[in-house]
Amino acid sequence: METDRLILRPWCEADAEALYKYASDPDVGPRAGWPPHQSVEESLNIIRTVFANDRTWALILKSTGEPIGCIGYYICGESNIDIGPDDAELGYWVGRPYWNQGLCSEALQLMITYCTTVKNFRTLWCDYFVDNPASGRVMAKCGFADTGLVNQCSRLSHGADRPIKIMKLTNPYHTA
Ligand SMILES: CC(C)(COP(=O)(O)OP(=O)(O)OC[C@H]1O[C@@H](n2cnc3c(N)ncnc32)[C@H](O)[C@@H]1OP(=O)(O)O)[C@@H](O)C(=O)NCCC(=O)NCCS
Repeated sequence: METDRLILRPWCEADAEALYKYASDPDVGPRAGWPPHQSVEESLNIIRTVFANDRTWALILKSTGEPIGCIGYYICGESNIDIGPDDAELGYWVGRPYWNQGLCSEALQLMITYCTTVKNFRTLWCDYFVDNPASGRVMAKCGFADTGLVNQCSRLSHGADRPIKIMKLTNPYHTA
């Protein structure tokens, strides 16, 4: 899948060094609820385990060919919040040098199209720590609405101490 500036493709083992470069940044993982990567070996292991499914994509910057971030979705049973059996929870991150260039919004818009028109999910969910408003802004720009729900999520790193805001987008194309 692709956007103007990005290719979305599965992670591969050759991405481990690039993944470590961006995922070791203490300003990235903790904002999304996971600890910074400690070594290239850990990044490689994440590629072989956490990312090894058909619901997780590397964000490849077309201009350089480098992986600079990640986007994907969880289905019921693996999500961070309670969602319905026909729903998905979306998540993403982008390496810090590439923030505030519209890249995540570009990727999320594509993922919304994929999840609504190809995967036929009923409702899409997103959530963000209240102290991470940039992520909430991405969700709002892409059409997610504030549910007013604020939860704790102990599955996330430091999630028990930091409330998350829950956003939702109803799939207008959903067919039962
Ligand atoms: C959140 C994140 C994915 C955004 O990626 P990005 O490519 O910079 O996103 P975009 O450029 O598409 O949009 C960012 C928006 O947030 C806004 N923003 C940036 N900092 C902000 C802040 N402190 N408060 C409010 N809005 C902020 C930007 O101005 C922009 O909005 P605009 O287009 O209306 O000006 C990126 O910062 C990141 O990876 N952070 C760490 C991991 C993370 O938070 N993941 C999400 C977990 S829920």
